[in-house]
Amino acid sequence: MKNTKQKILVVGGAGYIGSHMVRQLVNARYDVVILDNLSTGRRRLVQGDDFVQGDLGDPALLSRLFGTHIFDAVMHFAAFSQVGESMNQPLEYYRNNLAETIFLLDAMMRHGVRRFIFSSTAAVYGEPMAIPITEEHPCMPTNPYGNTKLAVERMLVDCDAAHGLKFTALRYFNAAGADECGEIGEMHDPETHLIPIILKAASGQIDHIRVFGTDYPTADGTCIRDYVHVNDLAQAHLLALDALLAGGESNVYNLGSSNGFSVKEVIGKVEAITGKRLPVVDASRRPGDPAILIASSEKIKQELGWNPVYNDLETIIRTAWDWHLKQ
Ligand code: UFG
Repeated sequence: MKNTKQKILVVGGAGYIGSHMVRQLVNARYDVVILDNLSTGRRRLVQGDDFVQGDLGDPALLSRLFGTHIFDAVMHFAAFSQVGESMNQPLEYYRNNLAETIFLLDAMMRHGVRRFIFSSTAAVYGEPMAIPITEEHPCMPTNPYGNTKLAVERMLVDCDAAHGLKFTALRYFNAAGADECGEIGEMHDPETHLIPIILKAASGQIDHIRVFGTDYPTADGTCIRDYVHVNDLAQAHLLALDALLAGGESNVYNLGSSNGFSVKEVIGKVEAITGKRLPVVDASRRPGDPAILIASSEKIKQELGWNPVYNDLETIIRTAWDWHLKQ
């Protein structure tokens, strides 16, 4: 526990991952200000007291915010994050994920804030040449979503060189699960992510699950992903924040469990946990999806001592299911 409270701006703190982050920051006794335009975030997921509803595209709001508070660091979770949607609406992704981040960084530079934690993604790698994927793997995104996140990472490197911005880019693999408090969890509308969709089928809210592609070069023909618990992601941000606040250099880290599960395996696991047989329909591939994404997270374990504690698919699904049943 710290003696003096440091102040963190959490952009996108009313979203799924952002709300889990705010909860951990408050528990770790940070002073937290949340900025969220509630385009995909939810008021009921806000965990802190200091909430500002607004948009990064509003220069007056940013000037007011940075003029009122002295932030020790900024964490940026606000982004569109659906691979499939990004294929159909690339400009929306470039506007929201890239252009709006320029406004945020510009406000930070003008107000002397030089520490930044960025929600990046495994989608920056594209189709992997080797598994597990390390941070040295070439970045060749296969979709506009990954392109926008990579563009921000490159902008951060340039801001470090020009302005001394110290940043940590955390490349998430597939975030899933929920905190046990029952107050926060995944609630997208429309829902596109695999685990919540399977849970919707298990609770009868939808009548079948579509499996996007059964002809991938994997054992059962379906895509393999690395599912990582949202609280473990948040814990990694706290470690990255501590490192930056202690004077650490800019860095990039993968965040995954280092285990891969196919779409069919995840469905099977949910069936085992819920005791329900789920109707599945084979569908065509979803454009932009790489076949396999599995992380090596050794770098952050070694350098920052990241120690994920929800590191198995069963716990991830159980916490997501508990949250789902409370809705
Ligand atoms: N899938 C289905 N049916 C569905 C939904 C998903 O078969 O109804 C499949 C997808 O095709 C994919 C897998 O389940 O193969 C996982 O899909 P998600 O939509 O849950 O997640 P993605 O892997 O597409 O993307 C997620 C985040 C991204 C992040 C990526 C990193 O949404 O922001 O993980 O691995 F970049």
